[in-house]
Amino acid sequence: MVRPVQTETRRGETAPGRQWLVWQLLTDALASVTTDVRPPAVLDCGGGSGSFAVPLAQAGALVTVVDVSVDALATLRRRADEAGVADRVRPVQADVEALGDAVAPASFDLVLAHGILEAVDQVAPAFDAIAAAVRPGGLISVLAGNPVAGVLARALSGDLAAALVELRGLDADFARLGPGAVQELCRSAGLLVEQVHGVGVFSELVPGSALDAPGAAEALAALEAESAARAPFSDIASRVHTLARRPG
Ligand SMILES: C[S@@+](CC[C@H](N)C(=O)[O-])C[C@H]1O[C@@H](n2cnc3c(N)ncnc32)[C@H](O)[C@@H]1O
Repeated sequence: MVRPVQTETRRGETAPGRQWLVWQLLTDALASVTTDVRPPAVLDCGGGSGSFAVPLAQAGALVTVVDVSVDALATLRRRADEAGVADRVRPVQADVEALGDAVAPASFDLVLAHGILEAVDQVAPAFDAIAAAVRPGGLISVLAGNPVAGVLARALSGDLAAALVELRGLDADFARLGPGAVQELCRSAGLLVEQVHGVGVFSELVPGSALDAPGAAEALAALEAESAARAPFSDIASRVHTLARRPG
């Protein structure tokens, strides 16, 4: 079970059940690939404006961020500067589908692929290029939307016709990017899946007003932590986090 340690994001805002859970999984992953010899090398694919890259640099990592967006990389530079870690963050403007031209293979201790697989044209080749950057013994952290949650969200918003369309399209979506598909991508790339967590099991379902009650944010964080790896709750999470290691 993931321990419910905090409900604060790095920006100081309360975000129960969303980023704090991913952040905790990431900090545990970073610790598992850190040695006494050198700072851990992290690659954030589609890292955008640095929501994870900057705090990872603050935690001691040397972070390379690959993104196609010039604007996002400009924001990343500013945020890294403001946080005093500009020397630990390397922005690279490139397409992850040609990642091999931008970074050396097998050279990163921890590789993030958060919200990027949904954005590429060809998932399997892009994933293989990203996975190739993981050194032997290193980890990949994949965060992707859960197609099942899309159906539930449509229905709960009252758009039942759209929910039906999404439900009927689920098999194709699932084959492309469902949790099973991500695990299969990992195995095909020679990686061993170590952990799978549902991220955002309850937080999308709870009305915002419910969080105003004393202790509600902490209770929601505990609910998220205790359900993240517990079926059937984890199966309906809005996103799925997969952690896999390259043997060696
Ligand atoms: C949904 S955002 C995710 C940002 C960040 N990883 C996070 O989890 O908060 C997707 C990011 O991927 C970038 N992106 C989209 N397609 C890309 C591609 N083919 N190669 C590199 N970056 C890409 C976008 O510019 C954007 O910054």
